[in-house]
Amino acid sequence: MASGKLLRQLINSGVRGDSEAFRAASEAVIKEERQKKHHLLANDLERLLYGNYAEAGQNHTFGRHGLTEFPDNKDNGLPLLEERPVVREEKDIILSDDTRSALNEILLEHNKSDVLKSYGMKPSQKLLFCGPPGCGKTMAAEIVANTLSLPLVLVRLDSLISSFLGETAANLRKVFDFITRHPVVALFDEFDALTKDRGDSADHGELKRSVNSVLQMLDGYHGESILIATTNYETLLDHAVWRRFDEVVRFETPNLEQIKRLLEVKLAGVRRNFNTESRDVAGLFKGLSHADIERVLRRAVKEMILTGREFLEVAHIKDALSREYRHKQ
Ligand SMILES: Nc1ncnc2c1ncn2[C@@H]1O[C@H](COP(=O)(O)OP(=O)(O)O)[C@@H](O)[C@H]1O
Ligand SMILES: [Mg+2]
Repeated sequence: MASGKLLRQLINSGVRGDSEAFRAASEAVIKEERQKKHHLLANDLERLLYGNYAEAGQNHTFGRHGLTEFPDNKDNGLPLLEERPVVREEKDIILSDDTRSALNEILLEHNKSDVLKSYGMKPSQKLLFCGPPGCGKTMAAEIVANTLSLPLVLVRLDSLISSFLGETAANLRKVFDFITRHPVVALFDEFDALTKDRGDSADHGELKRSVNSVLQMLDGYHGESILIATTNYETLLDHAVWRRFDEVVRFETPNLEQIKRLLEVKLAGVRRNFNTESRDVAGLFKGLSHADIERVLRRAVKEMILTGREFLEVAHIKDALSREYRHKQ
């Protein structure tokens, strides 16, 4: 039998009508069966896959967007939800041991949710990711979705906010109805935006009410979707918010070891004349976030290309760094 992860991917992509993902998952199942020397089954599956595919193309429109019926804001027609691509995997994200094990624990709970349920328990579903900007909170939500083979759906807080006068609760209800009906990873990215005062005192009361509506809906939510809110450390949410979440996962800027691993991942395939293990090179990036480091590296690689060099050199990195700092001042 194909592994649980593959079966989940297969069924999930089928339900969503995502033909590309369905095909990829089917091919992986076939490969797995062939490796186990189940050749008859593998041949049969291949016939099914490629045979049906041709027919499907004619009378069936598999769309990339299986989740088509996204609710929108009645006032301005803006969508309240948006599907995000899910591409990156666990190996692509560099985290501290603590953060990684917190995430792994959550993933394990979901992979073994049947066992938990048989004991009357549920996996952690309402998660708060916090930490400074650019350290992988949003990326981690993508990886949760990928690992659990769920679509990633961004809750457009801007659409919610723009319609605060009266309609907010109704919009939120639509969002929660949707994520109750469809199992997804629902990302409330930069959740603190909801609590930010927009400087317009007339709006303040409405904002406060909106935060309360979100919190009430979070409390009342018992569906299958995973809800992930992200926020920056600096804007601490009050206790009323924190206690609503099953788990709080903290993200941090990378230490020297993590910087080395990040360099290795981000510079894979780039020819270079230095070692990513070097303390001297990693030390250049001390104090920067993962996203900052990625941006500096991109700058450095661009320079390497534009100056016609074959190898990335430490000088390119130093140059890019000094331009980055200049940028920030
Ligand atoms: N921990 C990390 N490991 C690898 N790449 C990262 C990490 N954190 C950030 N990045 C890179 O920076 C980009 C922006 O990071 P993001 O996840 O949006 O940060 P945050 O949500 O914490 O502000 C990511 O898409 C990824 O390319
Ligand atoms: Mg983010």
